[in-house]
Amino acid sequence: MTVTYFKRYRMQFDLRDGCIDAPDLPDNYQLARWHGNILEAHANAKFRSFREELDANVFPCLGDAEGCLRLMKEISCRQGFIPQATWLVTFVDPGTGRKENCGTVQGIREQTDVGSIQNLGIAPIHRGKGIGTVLLANSLKGFMSVGIKFVNLEVTAQNYGAVRLYQRMGFRTLRTVFKSIDVTY
Ligand SMILES: CC(C)(COP(=O)(O)OP(=O)(O)OC[C@H]1O[C@@H](n2cnc3c(N)ncnc32)[C@H](O)[C@@H]1OP(=O)(O)O)[C@@H](O)C(=O)NCCC(=O)NCCS
Repeated sequence: MTVTYFKRYRMQFDLRDGCIDAPDLPDNYQLARWHGNILEAHANAKFRSFREELDANVFPCLGDAEGCLRLMKEISCRQGFIPQATWLVTFVDPGTGRKENCGTVQGIREQTDVGSIQNLGIAPIHRGKGIGTVLLANSLKGFMSVGIKFVNLEVTAQNYGAVRLYQRMGFRTLRTVFKSIDVTY
């Protein structure tokens, strides 16, 4: 057995600090609040966002369409699932009207006033347009609306873009952890 260790940061956002500003999406993008009938759209956005990424090595289910669907079902059935912190972004092609699921984030409650962000992801061709920022801000507002005071997440240290986004939003690193993965083929 060959084991690899991934360095990850546990980060936290303190919602007691004040209000969250959620910028608007660029043209042709739409934000959808959680509803059970868009579970598959979230799973599809998750798969398209993670399949080529480092985190698909850390969590193999993220690299697989069926795995993403199972994960979405599992997250949305959890007792602590927070619909208000769960958002989907869809791109609507202005020429054809075709819709594409391109961004997702989910929220769960860990303790009475502590929540956690699950799998923020934007499909590669839609990155760098502020969509991750919009999803994160709306998720934080959703946590706040249900009385959460602290929002946690874990990010792989080598995932520089994501770490930068979280730091820019105001997350601070609580500690460093190492996740062991069996990489035997
Ligand atoms: C991390 C991730 C969610 C960021 O999503 P994103 O939509 O690209 O995020 P944003 O566009 O809001 O911010 C990213 C960059 O775009 C820039 N940006 C923000 N708004 C912009 C705009 N309107 N126009 C152009 N660029 C913009 C930001 O300044 C930022 O620049 P940086 O590289 O200096 O940090 C995305 O890269 C991703 O899905 N990665 C793979 C999955 C993953 O690892 N998720 C995190 C798990 S913990």
